[in-house]
This record gives sequence, structure tokens and C-alpha cells, in this order.
Amino acid sequence: MEVVIVQDAEAGGELIAETIANLLRRKPDALLGVATGSTPLPIYQALTAKVRSGALDASGARIAQLDEYVGLPAGHPESYRSVVLREVVEPLGLTEDAFMGPDGAAEDVQAACEAYDLALAQAGGVDLQLLGIGTDGHIGFNEPCSSLASRTRIKTLTRQTREDNARFFDSPDEVPHHVITQGIGTILEARHLVLLATGEGKAEAVAQTVEGPVAAVVPASALQLHPHATVVVDEAAASKLK
Ligand code: F6R
Repeated sequence: MEVVIVQDAEAGGELIAETIANLLRRKPDALLGVATGSTPLPIYQALTAKVRSGALDASGARIAQLDEYVGLPAGHPESYRSVVLREVVEPLGLTEDAFMGPDGAAEDVQAACEAYDLALAQAGGVDLQLLGIGTDGHIGFNEPCSSLASRTRIKTLTRQTREDNARFFDSPDEVPHHVITQGIGTILEARHLVLLATGEGKAEAVAQTVEGPVAAVVPASALQLHPHATVVVDEAAASKLK
């Protein structure tokens, strides 16, 4: 695992956007796995700036979603499909055809999870998977004690994660209780994992991910098992590293 400490979130976003740009220059139709939440926004902004300035042609890129709330009405602005379309697909000048994600409104959620794993494999697998990290060490929505071999499936959010995500909703009660998330085993199949963590609130989770044992209680520690994992942290998130 490679750990890169940068000054702040903006520097992290720029560094990772350049990594993605290099991937797209090498492989124009790369499948980019994207996370939602606040952390990756500087990456998407830096990538969009490269496209708009003409420094990068991202027109062949394909985008795959990491996770999705279950039960939000179609088109809800905080469904992760809506967020990824708004923050990534549209700014990069791509269309919905370039986008794939799990169906959080499916009647048969289990079948939707299996279909998504199959779709990812049929698309050739994820080339670069962006990850954020929860204050409890989750990646995707694999909460503590998720199996390190898990596949895409339905999960119940912890109280902590629902509280953390309440800022995106009008009221805390609106945060769904369930999500579909790529499993840890699914995530580990991506060819390159890039995790960004910023702010002091992530410092403990980062320390356990990077310096603790590989353990299901800290799902992000599974990155230690991956042959090509990059963890980019700002100085605040790095503050508990030894
Ligand atoms: C969301 C996701 C989550 C977030 C994590 C951190 O797609 O994968 O694991 O990355 O909850 O969220 P922020 O970045 O909002 O602190």
C-alpha cells in the first residue's frame, strides 16, 4: 500500500485527478469506479477543469457507481445515481449511457445486487476505484464486521453513518436505513484502488487502515491485501499516523 500525504483536500483532489487523467490517456475507455459523499468532490472538480481546459479528453470514460441507497424515490436528488450524474457524468460531458450503477429501487434487491456484479465483470472490471472512508472505517457501505470476501449486497447503515450522512437530507429521519454496496471482495477486484481521506475526523480510521491489522472491524484495512492500493491523506487525516 502506498500512502501519500498532501497538504489539503484540494491538493489531494488534484493529485488523484492527474492519476485518472493518466489512466484515460493510456486507456480512453477506462471504467472508473466512483464514490459519493463530500471527500471526492475536489477530485471531480479537478477532473472537470482538465476536461474544460482541453487538457484531457474524457469522452470515452465509463463510470461505475460504488453504492446506492435503497428505497429513495426515483430521481431523488440525494440518490447516489443523481449525485454521480450531477457531480461526475454531466460535468465530464458524458451521457447516462456511460454510467452504470446498482438499482436501489428494484423490487428484488438481491437480484439487482447480483446483476450489478455481473455487469461490472462483463464491462471488463473496474480499472480505478475511488474510495472515501467512513469515520468507522467503512468503504463503500461495508460497515465494520463486513466480510472481507463480500460481494455486492444489501446492508444496513449503522447509526453513526446515518448521523454522518444526515447533512445531505432535510431531516435525519429521511436518511435511508439500507443501501446496496459493492462488497469488499468486489471492490478488491478493481485494478487500482485510490482512497482519499481528508480532515481530522478521519484520522483514527486512517491510522487503523494503514497501520492496524487487516480486520473486518476496519473494512478499509482490506486495502492492505490489494497489490495496487494508494491512500491519499491530507495532513489532518494523517495526524494519527505514527
Ligand atoms: C459513498 C461511500 C462512503 C463514503 C464515506 C465517507 O459512496 O462510498 O464510503 O466515502 O461515507 O463519506 P464523506 O466523504 O462524505 O465523508
